[in-house]
Amino acid sequence: MSIVVLDKVSKKYRLSRLGSKSIREELGRMMNNLKPSSRGQAGSDEFYAVKEVDLAVKRGETIGFIGPNGSGKSTLLKLLARIIYPSEGKIMVGGSVASLIEVGAGFHPELTGRENIFLYGSIMGMKKAEVAKKFDRIVEFSEMEKFIDTPVKRYSSGMYVRLGFAVAAHINPAVLLVDEVLAVGDANFQSKCQQRIEQLRRGGMTIAFVSHDMPAVERLCDRVVFISKGQIKAVGKPQDVISIYYNEVLFAKKSSTGLAQNNTGLAIESQTSLYGQNAEILSVKFFNGDGQETDTISTGDKLTARIHYRTYTQIEDPVFELLFYSPDDRLYTHLTTAINGTNIDSLPDEGIVEFDCSEFGLTPGIYKTDAIFSQRGSVAPYDLKPRQYILKVLPGKSVRGMFYNPQQWRLLPPAETISVQSADSNFG
Ligand SMILES: Nc1ncnc2c1ncn2[C@@H]1O[C@H](COP(=O)(O)OP(=O)(O)OP(=O)(O)O)[C@@H](O)[C@H]1O
Ligand SMILES: [Mg+2]
Repeated sequence: MSIVVLDKVSKKYRLSRLGSKSIREELGRMMNNLKPSSRGQAGSDEFYAVKEVDLAVKRGETIGFIGPNGSGKSTLLKLLARIIYPSEGKIMVGGSVASLIEVGAGFHPELTGRENIFLYGSIMGMKKAEVAKKFDRIVEFSEMEKFIDTPVKRYSSGMYVRLGFAVAAHINPAVLLVDEVLAVGDANFQSKCQQRIEQLRRGGMTIAFVSHDMPAVERLCDRVVFISKGQIKAVGKPQDVISIYYNEVLFAKKSSTGLAQNNTGLAIESQTSLYGQNAEILSVKFFNGDGQETDTISTGDKLTARIHYRTYTQIEDPVFELLFYSPDDRLYTHLTTAINGTNIDSLPDEGIVEFDCSEFGLTPGIYKTDAIFSQRGSVAPYDLKPRQYILKVLPGKSVRGMFYNPQQWRLLPPAETISVQSADSNFG
């Protein structure tokens, strides 16, 4: 049973009015539209923020919207929330809608937090007594007790969002719409919001969720819609759609890493070595489980990396390392022969050192890799290739948490259980 149906929905905007997004301006625009247009011929500077979108959302479904900046995600949610109206097409929503789309939207700036909670409740068709019953829970969730009698115009954006989400998530709408705005909340509050969304979802609420946080989308959503230039590019299982998104948008863009691509797809920043006098790293290549050279694997896949080196002097006790960084330069994992017990006694002048992992644990994303060739215990490496090799990771084995861990679970047979227990009691 569908609770939300979009039938060939389009939203047209004028380029010349770009950037004005508040409800007040939106209202002004609607009023103006009633007057005959004083502008040049219609359609000349119009564009579609959302174009011919067909979508049916089932009752109880959590649906995620992903896509690049400006692709129309927020516009779609605003259409569902009836903050704006479609230029063409029809929207059917079978129940009340609560939304958290823009920071501060839905709040009256001169009113206090307390007054706004009641105002919002009444807009949602709730009786004052009903809101009063939920009031304490809303305030407690928002952690805004101290500021609840302050006019919301004095709130910070994070404070707005705390109160906005707390209200939207406690008044029991049929459909809850949540946009990326949650990202302005601090990490603590964001995780609290995600837990609440999870709870509401299990309680059977229909939720539409816009986010650039792919792990959160994968975790929270039953179905994901990928939007590009106002149109639906893909709809389906989170993993599948996120893969398409990564492939089409993130991985295709050179500028996201600032790196150029060579014909193997491996990106090379420049051929500069910081070192390389006594020994050199010539290349790093990645291979998948089929032994094919690649720059893309999936979480939990087999990964082989080969470091091709050359030496120009006698090298004692060499160490090889690979470090993987996210685009914002956080180190995700550091692989090194120095700590895994690999000792290389005699090193040919030129050769390949291979790293092998049967189930590689990085989560979906794009990683830049440092390769280091050094002598154990020495500060200056022989050679360091900084952020020079790119590895792209697609959704694969499912991840709960920060990284994938290979795992085996089993129920011990009774005989073993007894022997383990008696061993335990010896230690106890
Ligand atoms: N009120 C408006 N008037 C004119 N153009 C608008 C208005 N609101 C949005 N747009 C335009 O519509 C397009 C889609 O915007 P939208 O906010 O839906 O993108 P988005 O997918 O939510 O992006 P982001 O990831 O950055 O939040 C953009 O080109 C935007 O500039
Ligand atoms: Mg948006």
